[in-house]
Amino acid sequence: MAIIKFIAILFFSLGVSAKSQTSIYHLPMKPANLWLEHESRIATEKLEQNIAPAGTVAGVVIASPQKQDPNYFRHWVRDGALTMHVVLQLWKRATTSEEKSKWQTLLMNYVNFSRQNQLSQTLVGLGEPIFEVDGTPFLGPWGRPQNDGPALRAVVLTDWALNLLEQGQRDFVLKNLYNSKLPANSLIKADLEYVSHHWQESCFDLWEEVKAQHFYTKMVQRKALLLGAQLARQMNDGGAANWYEMQGRGLENSISLHANTGRDWVVPSMDWDGGHNSKPADLDSAVILGVLHGQLDSFFNVSNRKVQNTFTRLNEVFSSLYSINKTAPLSAPALGRYPEDIYAGSNFDGGNPWVLTTLAAAEYAYNMAFELGAKKSKKAHQWIEMGDRFVQRVQYHANPDGSLSEQMDRRTGFMTSARDLTWNYAAVLTAFWARNKSILTISKGLNK
Ligand code: NOJ
Ligand code: NOJ
Repeated sequence: MAIIKFIAILFFSLGVSAKSQTSIYHLPMKPANLWLEHESRIATEKLEQNIAPAGTVAGVVIASPQKQDPNYFRHWVRDGALTMHVVLQLWKRATTSEEKSKWQTLLMNYVNFSRQNQLSQTLVGLGEPIFEVDGTPFLGPWGRPQNDGPALRAVVLTDWALNLLEQGQRDFVLKNLYNSKLPANSLIKADLEYVSHHWQESCFDLWEEVKAQHFYTKMVQRKALLLGAQLARQMNDGGAANWYEMQGRGLENSISLHANTGRDWVVPSMDWDGGHNSKPADLDSAVILGVLHGQLDSFFNVSNRKVQNTFTRLNEVFSSLYSINKTAPLSAPALGRYPEDIYAGSNFDGGNPWVLTTLAAAEYAYNMAFELGAKKSKKAHQWIEMGDRFVQRVQYHANPDGSLSEQMDRRTGFMTSARDLTWNYAAVLTAFWARNKSILTISKGLNK
């Protein structure tokens, strides 16, 4: 007994948290690639379970099954679109017709649900961030509008529409996704009209706290408009295609301002216009997410110098901010949203690292490996290893059954805040696919 106590005291005096003790016991862990493969199967199941679960209508994607402290049993337009983008990938990857039709049904339900969202009386038009699980708009006090939502929804559905057109399914697209009629009565066009006419306005950020101009929001708006222009052109809506294209290019100037502030990195928000206003560090994982979710061409892609600086700085700042990063025997830090964050799920007692931002760092590193490709395979491998270290960080703090909550407690490392966060599972899958893609490129020497 005494000796156990002594060991426990020793661990604590070394600053090792309770979680670290149990996990150290389990080291060495399964290699990152094996865990990621295993976890991606769990993630697919868990993600599916959060689409239209009992008590909700078809098309709903709940942010989490948790109904209290915090209540995430609602449909967030942003989380929903990011999740359905993964469903679209699963649809593209399906190998049997049963599987394909399963994902197709979910996509169609999402289309119908989203169109109803667009037609409902919200407090801020299409900028409403949240819908109840019966499809009615959320009416409580909140940070709104959030204009990344309609853009993300347009991105996933435009991706689908372009794919369907390639397969000769023009009538389906015309009927369900896009037609040139104005005022818009089709889902994608309504979103594109909204984005193209409102992108210059300030709105709340993806973290729902700051009203300003945001790098993240503008990156996904640009992607929506430029992809939308392609779709409009193919649907013989040339005038609209030119308009969307022009607005997408206009966004580029506005986005560039975030990299020309005198900081060495990309600044997440500018021109404060309301909401939370205490982010002196000017540093946010939202920039990495903006690069990942807004990825289209070489514009602000992963290898942009200021984006790379942002990644490096996030690593530095969060390494020293959270005690789990100082004590756990892992080399990649768990990353939070932004250093000044105090949101802990059920209270505001201090910010924690998040699963989805840490996985975004992994995906970022894998995409860097892809960019370097076979020509610089040594460097590319180093980026893969870097990505794997972020994956191991999440692996280390994950629940034993593979379930992932929104946050990791900054002191104990245990999962905390909303359980089974749908977006986390989407992030596991996109990181997994990014890893596979870069490995394939490096090994085949197929540099693009
Ligand atoms: C809930 C939001 O979802 C979260 O991002 C935010 O930090 C808190 N509300 C505080 O506004
Ligand atoms: C809070 C996060 O800040 C926000 O990005 C997210 O949309 C909601 N939670 C729902 O998951």
